[in-house]
Amino acid sequence: MRDRAIGRYPERVKRFHVTTFGCQMNVHDSERMRGMLTSLGYEEAAERAEADLILFNTCSIRESADSRFIAHLGEAKRLKGEDPERTVGVGGCWAQSVKEEVFERFPFVDVAFGPGQIHKLAEFLNSDSLTAQGYFEFEDFAGHLPTRREREFQGWLQIAQGCNCRCSYCIVPSTRGREVSRDPGELLLEAEALAADGVREVTLLGQNVNSYGRDLPTDTRITFAELLTRVDAVPGIDRIRYTSPHPKDMKEDVIRAHAELPALCEQIHLPLQSGSSAILKRMRRTYDRGRYMDRVALIREHVPDCAITTDIIVGFPGETEADFAETLEVAEEVRYDGAFTFVFSPRRETEAATMDGQVPHPVKVERMERLVEVVQRRAAERAQRFVGRTMEVLVEGPSRTDPTRLRGRTRHNKAVNFEGIAEAGEMVDVEIETATSQTLAGTSVRPLSQLFR
Ligand code: SAH
Ligand code: SF4
Ligand code: F3S
Repeated sequence: MRDRAIGRYPERVKRFHVTTFGCQMNVHDSERMRGMLTSLGYEEAAERAEADLILFNTCSIRESADSRFIAHLGEAKRLKGEDPERTVGVGGCWAQSVKEEVFERFPFVDVAFGPGQIHKLAEFLNSDSLTAQGYFEFEDFAGHLPTRREREFQGWLQIAQGCNCRCSYCIVPSTRGREVSRDPGELLLEAEALAADGVREVTLLGQNVNSYGRDLPTDTRITFAELLTRVDAVPGIDRIRYTSPHPKDMKEDVIRAHAELPALCEQIHLPLQSGSSAILKRMRRTYDRGRYMDRVALIREHVPDCAITTDIIVGFPGETEADFAETLEVAEEVRYDGAFTFVFSPRRETEAATMDGQVPHPVKVERMERLVEVVQRRAAERAQRFVGRTMEVLVEGPSRTDPTRLRGRTRHNKAVNFEGIAEAGEMVDVEIETATSQTLAGTSVRPLSQLFR
């Protein structure tokens, strides 16, 4: 009998390794896997080859995400071949989208589970199951797991799971289920616990954060703006971010909150997807170019310095040169501080995958190049407004490119590489000297309070 439960081999602690693909939701889910496995007595292995339990937390948002993961799975197969006692687990959105087919395609996988079923991994590990198991139910929020954060001063707060939108290109509603908001009282307790545990920056997570609360019972229901106000009042939380809001639900109260709440950062990620109203309609985004631009105008009116970032898809089925030209126009007009740009990728069982007018690959690539040029040029121009300013930076650690320098982020979510002495998790003032589309560079100027410590 295969025996995976911890404690039965007191001579050796079992080790796990987890590889994460996809969005912040998955990053957070992996932290919860780590927390859960640690509480079961497992230790984290630095390398996959050293692990008794090899885990993948998968994404299926685009085809490239699938293929990247499948390449990694090959190594797990080899390792399992060397030592059949190893356990291989596949969780996340890809697993949910193919369900039991995981085991047909990859017979060496022992356990598979969707994003809402992470806790079932513990059940599996504690059972003496001889057969592979799959867990793909949608439940109410199953988030009550310990977490092990990557950085002690940054934390995620998952405010809802699932998505009630029906964007015609998107696989997420089928992998994460219907939207379920978490109870505000519970979220506040979690935010307080994070702060007590050293978290200074919290990011509220959901597929459509600003529809938060609509599904809650009337006696506990609060809006997203109210939730922001309550988290802002938690002592110790210096910075609040959230991702992602949907433009259709971006209301004035949330925009005003950016001007009024001291901890709420001057940064909004507002996914555009396309600048053409005709394409937005085919995407089922439920806003048009005009309404999107109104939201942007409202942000600029209330929070003129706010950083605005976005997601854009090029080559959606039916996208003509004229439609694409509208996307370029919006990118020029908004002057985004940054943008994630994606080539449309047909996803299984989504409406857009079989729509007429699929755009040939070379056309998609050519449009992508033109879009990236606009996005980068505009972002670089816009970043110049920071040069000469002294900005508050939350230090994350040494710079990736030059270990003699430090790296951190401004409230606008711009990465800064700078000269100075500080610990990770400290807030320092940095005078910005240069700026590119992606990063800022400068020198720390110690605030007076720190000189007398
Ligand atoms: N819930 C979030 C985004 C989730 S997915 C939101 O609505 O903003 C992140 C981004 O991936 C999307 O904003 C979209 O730009 C991109 N994306 C999703 N499905 C895609 C597909 N089939 N092809 C290309 N890009 C896609
Ligand atoms: Fe996907 Fe649209 Fe939901 Fe975002 S809002 S997760 S793009 S269906
Ligand atoms: Fe995220 Fe990928 Fe799932 S982007 S929600 S992990 S499909």
